[in-house]
Amino acid sequence: MVEESDDINVGLLGLGVVGGGVATALLEQSDDISRKVGRRVKLKKILVRDAAKPRDPGIAASLITTNPEEILADPGIHILAEVIGGTDPATRFLKDALAAGKHVVTANKEVLAKSGPELMSLAKQNGVSLLFEASVGGGIPIVGCLMNQLLANDIQSVHGIINGTTNYILTRMAQAHTSFTQALQEAQELGYAEADPTNDIEGIDAGYKLAILASLAFHRRVNPEDIFLQGISSLEAKDFQYAQELGYAIKPLAIASMSNGAVQARVHPALIPLGHMLAKVDGVYNAVEVTGSLCGNVLFHGMGAGREPTTSAVLGDLIEAGRRLVSHPNGSSPPMSWPPENGSSEETIGVSSIDGLQSKYYLRLNVSDQPGVLAQIAKILGDGNISIASVIQKDADPDNQSAELVIITHPALEASVQESLRKVVELNVVKEVNNLLRIEE
Ligand SMILES: NC(=O)c1ccc[n+]([C@@H]2O[C@H](COP(=O)([O-])OP(=O)(O)OC[C@H]3O[C@@H](n4cnc5c(N)ncnc54)[C@H](OP(=O)(O)O)[C@@H]3O)[C@@H](O)[C@H]2O)c1
Repeated sequence: MVEESDDINVGLLGLGVVGGGVATALLEQSDDISRKVGRRVKLKKILVRDAAKPRDPGIAASLITTNPEEILADPGIHILAEVIGGTDPATRFLKDALAAGKHVVTANKEVLAKSGPELMSLAKQNGVSLLFEASVGGGIPIVGCLMNQLLANDIQSVHGIINGTTNYILTRMAQAHTSFTQALQEAQELGYAEADPTNDIEGIDAGYKLAILASLAFHRRVNPEDIFLQGISSLEAKDFQYAQELGYAIKPLAIASMSNGAVQARVHPALIPLGHMLAKVDGVYNAVEVTGSLCGNVLFHGMGAGREPTTSAVLGDLIEAGRRLVSHPNGSSPPMSWPPENGSSEETIGVSSIDGLQSKYYLRLNVSDQPGVLAQIAKILGDGNISIASVIQKDADPDNQSAELVIITHPALEASVQESLRKVVELNVVKEVNNLLRIEE
């Protein structure tokens, strides 16, 4: 258990992009942070992996350790801030800290999405808080709003752009007509994408964040493995051009909605009308729209990652944890629950299969440039109850005698669309189905 003291001592796990920002702020804005908390807040120790790595000269070498026990087992440390990332050893460190009666602040979406309820129960048992504003949307205060200010609402949906890397890539493809590979390389050179970009481009990162948002919005756990994920690597610059001609932008969306007690949760690139607010969210920016029974549509927009915005979220949580320590020194502070309802913190809600989705679709097909092709495709789609809203023919290639067909459907059932496309690719006149994208109105 932690010791009472005149100061509030913070142990920081990680000194990378986010940890560096948090450490610098705790050292340089100590007076301001302490005034906001109502007691002196001190950075006592920082855990890193590699002690030999050069660090900011403003961070004294005596603060740094590679031994986690110097923080986890120190009863003089009251708040732990975890910004090392990954699940192991981060999950273990968080559990140890909560069990030792420390308030915990984390930016770790993967741990929260996978082990949030378990960690929340532990926090509750030990009368401490688990705060995680930085885990979704960087500097955008969406977690706290779902947990507090929007609690009076029945939330119908949470949807938006919650991965800045993919939004940057798609923005470059739309505006500079670059290929996916070029745009990804650019994102890597600018530090927006990691050397291994799989988590971002396959939608895994957004899936973790959506699991957190959906769990908070619907008051029951949404399992990240249940969320439908479709990556962005099948997109080509011409998809953006055709979408634009049809009045749409293509954005990397994460969508969770509740209807008749069933949750839909999916991450995929989607066409949205050019006039929609999310269509104007470009580059590494994030935006989340929440639709609630009382608040209507509320849009959160801002920088979804980066040192300063994420530091803003982590420090805000640290100040909140400090205030709870001041107001409830014996650990009886009201812990935040996950989801924020009594007793049901471990209850999971199933996610409906994507097969049941009703949506409009954008299809891009490479076909033989000859009469009667569209009629054959339309017949298969019609048999699957899919009606065509518009068709454009593009890029006839006389050498290959091929053409490109872009089809927009009226609302149809996902399972029928997938089944019909399996039949369409078997037609002799169809060379390839290049892309299938959902349209969100
Ligand atoms: N970067 C962002 O914009 C952003 C935004 C929102 C949320 N987040 C989340 O914040 C967390 C940190 O991200 P980051 O970008 O700051 O990561 P990062 O730059 O890679 O930094 C990670 C830090 O943790 C330390 N570390 C890693 N594994 C460790 C271990 N096993 N034991 C001890 N220290 C270890 C590293 O030590 P060394 O310095 O010795 O290598 C490094 O200082 C992640 O959960 C991430 O998802 C990041």
